[in-house]
Amino acid sequence: MSTLTATAVAHPNIAFIKYWGNRDDALRIPSNGSISMNLESLATQTRVTFDSHLPEDIFDLNGTRQSGPALKRVVSHLNLIRGIRGTAIHAHILSENNFPTGSGIASSASAFAALTLAVTTALGLQVGEKDLTRIARRGSGSACRSIPAGFVEWNAGETDRDSFAFSIAAADFWDLTDCIAIVEAAQKKVSSTEGHSLAGTSPLQEARVQDAPRRLDMCRNAIQTRDFAALASILELDSTMMHAVMMTSTPPVFYWEPATLNIVKAVAAWRKSGIPAAASIDAGPNVHIICETRAAENVAQRLSSLPAVKEVLVSKAGGPTVLK
Ligand code: DP6
Repeated sequence: MSTLTATAVAHPNIAFIKYWGNRDDALRIPSNGSISMNLESLATQTRVTFDSHLPEDIFDLNGTRQSGPALKRVVSHLNLIRGIRGTAIHAHILSENNFPTGSGIASSASAFAALTLAVTTALGLQVGEKDLTRIARRGSGSACRSIPAGFVEWNAGETDRDSFAFSIAAADFWDLTDCIAIVEAAQKKVSSTEGHSLAGTSPLQEARVQDAPRRLDMCRNAIQTRDFAALASILELDSTMMHAVMMTSTPPVFYWEPATLNIVKAVAAWRKSGIPAAASIDAGPNVHIICETRAAENVAQRLSSLPAVKEVLVSKAGGPTVLK
């Protein structure tokens, strides 16, 4: 082998029903299933070049050479796929995000989705979508949901084989937009990976996991029938349940800033006045406002006028991870 290269583009996703806590941390078999929407305007583009002359793997992210934990995580994902292919050849990885890294916008989802497709392709592996989601999952759980198109469900499963993601509706099935209110663009203090390992210490996690099939059914039905009111109530409940677990873990994790709560309350008031919008928060202080696209401009304008909101990113539902 001399040089083998491939480039892939993936979108991050926003979970309507969240993944929090693992049955198996090493294999990233989650405690509960989840449902998300890919975000079209946000993207990670990754070029992988395998080169038999390279003495070690190199990872450049947004123009900066990576070392330490960021490099280690990418190298272990490379090792997983090299193991499947039966090769030890090293790679140069060039990755660019068009959104702030570590802002609570799941950059690891698009990162490992793009990396998985680029690496398997460059190594000449023929991998179908289901197995791509299983490999991406090992890099970052939420990455498995960025592989298929549009609205995606991750079947929790119990083993590596049956923990995979699949599309439940195409991106254009329902005209929804995510307006992301950026409160803080700095790296988050407690990573998702660290947070997942704490979930089981919360006395609320068991109840949250037990009730997950009901929430998944409600969310799936709301998407399939395009019922915004139903989607709004289940996605807000699910987000708050996850944060209740985070806040009651040992040690506790508070991702919310005062501005986060102010936005959540403002969105509830807007919805009461007839605006189809609902709030969801990941492992950071920023707020994702999911709305019907006809209300997106109004929602984005209202968010921008709130004093603590530094920026509003706007995205419709997006497609699958693709080669470029
Ligand atoms: C709050 O997929 O980032 O965004 O598997 O350790 O990489 P790792 O965690 P990650 O966790 C995502 C957590 C979440 C909820 C979600 O996207 O479902």
